[in-house]
Amino acid sequence: MVNRSEQTCDTGAKRALAVPGASGYPLVGLLPQVLLDPLQALLGVVKRHGDVACVNVGFEKIYLLSHPDHVEHVFHANSGNFIKDGSMWAAGQQLAGNGLGTTEGSAWLRQRRMMQPQFHRQKLAVMTSLLAEAAAEGLEAWRPAAENGQPIELLKELKSISTHTFLRALLSTSINAKEMSELTEAVNVAFRHINVLMWTNSLPQWLPIPGSRRFQQARRTIDRIIYPIIRSRYRQPCEGGDLLDLLLVARDADTGEGMSEQQVRDELVTLLVAAHETTATALAWTVHFLCGHPEAAQRVAAEASSLAGDRPPEFADLGKLAYTKMAFQEAMRLKGPLWLTVRRAVAEDNIAGYRIPAGSLVAIVPYVIHRHPAIWQRPEAFEPERFTEANAKGRHRGAYLPFGAGGHLCIGKSFATMQAQLLLAMLFQRYRVSLVPGHKVELQAAIVLRPRNGILVTLAPA
Ligand code: HEM
Repeated sequence: MVNRSEQTCDTGAKRALAVPGASGYPLVGLLPQVLLDPLQALLGVVKRHGDVACVNVGFEKIYLLSHPDHVEHVFHANSGNFIKDGSMWAAGQQLAGNGLGTTEGSAWLRQRRMMQPQFHRQKLAVMTSLLAEAAAEGLEAWRPAAENGQPIELLKELKSISTHTFLRALLSTSINAKEMSELTEAVNVAFRHINVLMWTNSLPQWLPIPGSRRFQQARRTIDRIIYPIIRSRYRQPCEGGDLLDLLLVARDADTGEGMSEQQVRDELVTLLVAAHETTATALAWTVHFLCGHPEAAQRVAAEASSLAGDRPPEFADLGKLAYTKMAFQEAMRLKGPLWLTVRRAVAEDNIAGYRIPAGSLVAIVPYVIHRHPAIWQRPEAFEPERFTEANAKGRHRGAYLPFGAGGHLCIGKSFATMQAQLLLAMLFQRYRVSLVPGHKVELQAAIVLRPRNGILVTLAPA
C-alpha cells in the first residue's frame, strides 16, 4: 500500500497527509463516525491514504500507521519516543490506577521488572489444574444444550468460562460465587464505559458523558470485593499458587521491597481488565474459523483426543497441542482482539518519510498490518500452517503483533496461550461444533474486536 495523497495535514508539515472529511464537523471531526464504527471509519482512511495517514477525531489528530516497518520503528528502534499517553490510556487509568498497563517511565519499569518473572511459563504451570478444573465445570454445563441440539451463543459462554477460570487463577478460592458474579458484572460495566471514555476523554470535562455514574458505582463494587481479599491474604498467605500470591511475593530486585496494598489492587484490576474479553473473543473467533474449516477442526479434535483417555490436559500436554496453538495464532492474525493501539510521540519524528509532529498521537493498526500484502500471501485465508516454525522463520518481526510488541508486550501472553490451548482441547474432547445457518456474524470494533451479535452454534457430543 502506498500513500497517494500529497496534501499536507498540518500547516508546516512536510508530507503528513490530510484526511478527507476531517473537517466534516466543526470541533468533532470524524469522531461521530469513529464512535459509531471505529474500524470501518479508520479502515476507510487507511484505504484512501495508505500506510501513513491521519485522522481528526475532535480535539486530537491521530496518525495511523499500518506497515510492519512502523511497528519496528515505534516499538523497537525509537521506542523511547513513543509513550502511553492520551485519552485512551487515561480512560484505563480511571479504573486501573497505576497498574502496569497504563503507566510509563520508571514507575512502569519497576513494576514490569517485579512482575515479569512471575508470569514466566514455568511459574504458570502450577495453575494448569486450577484452569482445567474451572474450564471442565463450564464446558460440562453445555451438555444439556448439546444433547437437545439447542443453540448456544459462543462468545457469551466462552466469556463466562474464561472469566470464571481467570478469577480462579487470580484468586483461587478466596472469592465466593456471589462475589465472582458481582465482580464480573462490575468489570463488564466498567469495560463498556472505558470504551466510550477512550474516544471522548479529550472532549471538555463539562460535557456530560452517559454512564459515568454507573462507572463510578462499578469501581466501588470492584474495590469493595478486592481490598478485603488482599488484606486477608496479607494476614494469612494462601500459598495456593494463584496470581495474587505471585503479586504478593514479587520483590523489587534493587530494594527488596514488595508492592503497597494500593499497588496490588491496581495490578489485580489491571490483570482483570487486560484478560477481560481478550482471551474469550480470541477463542470465539478461533472456534468460528474452525467451524468454517472442517479439515483444520479435525486436526484440532485429533490432537485433543490423542491425549490419554478423556482426562483434562496437563501442562506437559501443551506441547502435543501444536496445531491447536497455530489455529489460535492464525485466528488472532485475522481477528486479533487488539485491533489498534496508540502512543504519543514525545518529540517530532520521521516515519517512512512523513513528519510526525511532537505531541501527536499515533495509532498502530494490527488489523491492517496482519493483512499487509507485503508480508502475507492470501491475507484473508485462514491457514494455521503459517505458524509452523519453518514458515514463521525470518518473518518481519513487526508483521504479527496480537500481543503487542517491544517493552509493553503482553505480560499475559503465555498465560493466555496456555488457557486457549487447554480450553480448545477440552472443548473438542467433548463436542463437535457447527454454526447455526443464517446467523450473520458481524464485526464490532470496541476495545476488542468482537462479533457484534455473537456467534450462534450448535453442539453435538464428540
Ligand atoms: C488472547 C488474549 C490476550 C491478548 C490478545 C492480549 C493482548 C495484549 C496487547 C496487544 C497488549 C499490549 C498493548 C499495548 O502495548 O498497546 C497487552 C498488554 C498487557 N496484557 Fe494482554 N492480552 C491477552 C491476555 C492477557 C491476559 C490473560 C493477561 C493477564 C494475565 C494480560 C495482561 C496484560 C498486561 C498487564 C498488559 C500490559 C503490559 C505492559 O504494558 O507492560 N493480557 N495485551
